[in-house]
Amino acid sequence: MKKLLSLFLCAAMILALAGCAQGGSSSQESAQGEAAPEGAKEVTVGLIQLMEHPSLDEIRAAIKARIQERAGEYGLSVEVQYQNAQNDTSTINTICQQFVANGVDAIVAIATPAAQGAAAAAQNTGIPIIFSAVTDPAAAGLVENLTAPEGNVTGTSDAIPVEKIFSLAAELTPDVKSFGLIYNTSEVNSLSVIEETKAYLDGQGIPYVDGAVTSSADVQTSARHLLEQCDALFAPIDNTVAGAMGVVAAEAIQAGKPVYVAADSMVADGGFATVGVNYTNLGTQTGDMVLKILSGTPVSEVPVEVLRDNAVTVNPETAAAIGVDVSQYVQ
Ligand code: TRP
Repeated sequence: MKKLLSLFLCAAMILALAGCAQGGSSSQESAQGEAAPEGAKEVTVGLIQLMEHPSLDEIRAAIKARIQERAGEYGLSVEVQYQNAQNDTSTINTICQQFVANGVDAIVAIATPAAQGAAAAAQNTGIPIIFSAVTDPAAAGLVENLTAPEGNVTGTSDAIPVEKIFSLAAELTPDVKSFGLIYNTSEVNSLSVIEETKAYLDGQGIPYVDGAVTSSADVQTSARHLLEQCDALFAPIDNTVAGAMGVVAAEAIQAGKPVYVAADSMVADGGFATVGVNYTNLGTQTGDMVLKILSGTPVSEVPVEVLRDNAVTVNPETAAAIGVDVSQYVQ
């Protein structure tokens, strides 16, 4: 209805602004603000984020900033409806079904479980889904052909450089002879990295212990248990562990052992070190894809973009607390 009106009213942005007075974990705003050029096409995007942890928050900020910055260039006025799913599957489904019922023009989904829910809810509706930070889009069942997506789903992916992370571990902590692997078994993103990790460690003859968890409530116990048995921890790109990273870091520091992780935010939250991608860049690229698709480019012509920029990040305080020299990585 709102969309129809916008065809006739130049001041349609007033309607978008009226949506701002919502509370809870949702928000609505016009990415075009007051500067919507005359004749801009008014569109609505449903933005779902799996949960709030620093990396996903960083991605969301970058997506919204990019859409805001460039909507005008694409002749668009974009209203973003944001919802956070609190890492809960049924909440994901409810939010995505609501987006579909609202008739949004696209759904943007941050993190794998959110993207899976969005793809399921929008199936056969023709509503395009743009995912952000999905580590293994094929394993998640989202898209098979990354260069020419076959359905209504495309997006950005954060490739995890498993070998580089373990090479860094060998360099910084050569005495580490075994790893405890902590991850949530229901996150396909983690399973994919863990599979590669196990193959790599098997190939190197490095022993490991599996510390799978099923919810954030298990994280502390699992971390403690693994630290009793292993010289170090490795946490893949796991949202559940990232959301409880402070607890994992505290356990590891208490044990005097390093936690290698798969994202810079997990280092900022007390993890020891990683090699990984820049999530602001990833969010910015996602924003560009959203604008392209909203302005009419078919999803099949918007390939999945896999980021591989790979910077080393270490936490100097954690390093000092566990007695490891990281001076070569800290200015
Ligand atoms: N790649 C994760 C996924 O596929 C999402 C993610 C992005 C993430 N940044 C992160 C997970 C940092 C943990 C920590 O769902």
